[in-house]
Amino acid sequence: GREPGARRNSAGLDLADPLATEQLLQEMNEARTGEWLSGPIVGGELLKRDTVEVINPANRTEIVGHVGVPTEVDMDKAYSLACSAQKGWDAVGGAARADILDKAADLLEENMSRLMGLIALEAGRTVADGLSEVREAVDFCRYYALQARTNFADPKTLPGPTGELNQLSLHGRGVFVCISPWNFPLAIFSGQVAAALAAGNAVIAKPAEQTPLIAAEAVKLLHQAGVPGEVLHLMPGDGATVGAGLVEDARLGGVAFTGSTETAKAINMALARRDGPIVPLVAETGGQNVMIVDSTALPEQVVDDVLSSAFQSAGQRCSALRVLYLQSEIADQVIEMLKGAAACLTLGDPLQLCTDVGPVIDEEAKAMLERHVERMDREAFPVCALPLPEAYPDGSFFAPRIYEIDRIGQLEREVFGPVLHIIRYRAGDLDKVLDEVRATGYGLTLGVHSRIEGRAQEIFDKLNVGNTYVNRNIVGAVVGVQPFGGQGLSGTGPKAGGPHYLYRFACEKTLTINT
Ligand code: NAD
Ligand code: ALA
Repeated sequence: GREPGARRNSAGLDLADPLATEQLLQEMNEARTGEWLSGPIVGGELLKRDTVEVINPANRTEIVGHVGVPTEVDMDKAYSLACSAQKGWDAVGGAARADILDKAADLLEENMSRLMGLIALEAGRTVADGLSEVREAVDFCRYYALQARTNFADPKTLPGPTGELNQLSLHGRGVFVCISPWNFPLAIFSGQVAAALAAGNAVIAKPAEQTPLIAAEAVKLLHQAGVPGEVLHLMPGDGATVGAGLVEDARLGGVAFTGSTETAKAINMALARRDGPIVPLVAETGGQNVMIVDSTALPEQVVDDVLSSAFQSAGQRCSALRVLYLQSEIADQVIEMLKGAAACLTLGDPLQLCTDVGPVIDEEAKAMLERHVERMDREAFPVCALPLPEAYPDGSFFAPRIYEIDRIGQLEREVFGPVLHIIRYRAGDLDKVLDEVRATGYGLTLGVHSRIEGRAQEIFDKLNVGNTYVNRNIVGAVVGVQPFGGQGLSGTGPKAGGPHYLYRFACEKTLTINT
């Protein structure tokens, strides 16, 4: 085992260094085999099932690999094996589980370029996104390992009367179903699974239907690290059948879900209706994230931070900036600068280092965004729209857009892509702005750009938002540094990568012995 407390976040790579990147890009391109395979992994074995193609969102004519479709029998078998194995996994203790998760982190790190290649091909994520995603997955494993080693290893003896021993211990809740989205197909997938495993649960993981290949690679590495095949199972497939089927099962001990607010509510209803015990739902969902910029902000810094917050990862981050509030005195200047800077963004193949914005995940996402901008073209004032890349006619590309709107209420729901909305506000109207933001019901990320003493603290205090960032961008929370997760419509509150997260995956038992 490693020393408690000896954890460091994974090291980065200088993507501007041609020596470092030449080999990286070559290795990433080696992922272009077309032969990746996923499917139900039950009891450590990838089951042979009828498969469907997984395609590259940057070029829909390119097959990245295939995924086998699970049957009901597969789900049932995964549940039976997981139920039988969970007590044993809990009993090995937090320290032994931590050693395995540390080993998994090492394996993820060793496979970094291969995983980054697959992330680019399957999810259309850029080189920079892929790099931070693998690092985040590594950090989640090491962070939860440290938590397991520190808090889940031994029962805690509590003070009590003489002649009585009182002990409090933490245990897994049973079989956790981990349901993840496609936008962080490795980091969120591995983060949920590592947390549930660290706390002593068996796991059935259900990745998003768009990204089953990277999930299968993560599961294989976790098994290779020592997680028993009976303890961790993969069940790829769609939400309506596989996801809903897993959630309805009475053998379930808890659900970790990251995805849309609508799906979180549907899962909550299913949990309430089904037979079996009352189980927790850890839900991390969407946002209507705003940045409030007053006239004391530095315009150059605002422009940089707005562009990265709104358009990095093609705006497909739950944390991404959707609405920029600009104080009217500086609005014209900032908007002009934003137009100029946005025009310099490069759209294209995620496997090219120069690409800033890759494709959106699929044609359905693109159609949803097109419907939104059709409405915005009628109801809002267009600020700028980038041209589509001509070189990728078969990709699901959607070019970034900026609009000026009157009120945040014009956006009925989260717009999950590279569309930024700007609202001008007058200096005396800050409280009105905060009321509008509060009325959305979301509370995931928030940006404030201001040099007025106390202004950011005032906004932080008045709004119920999970992650507030001052005078910087609002994306890219770092494990153990910015524990991440929202409130209200944005989630049930636990902070991934934070010191209290694992407790949500555990139950507590008190033992009192009259000695
Ligand atoms: P989604 O809700 O459509 O799907 C998420 C997962 O739920 C998928 O695996 C899907 O198959 C599954 N699912 C769908 N219906 C289900 C059902 N009835 N029962 C069980 N499972 C079901 O979301 P998405 O489009 O994949 O992801 C984008 C959303 O995720 C955005 O809203 C984004 O804001 C959110 N997100 C939140 C966070 C966060 O940490 N707060 C992080 C990333 C993404
Ligand atoms: N944790 C991710 C971010 O902060 C979603 O951007």
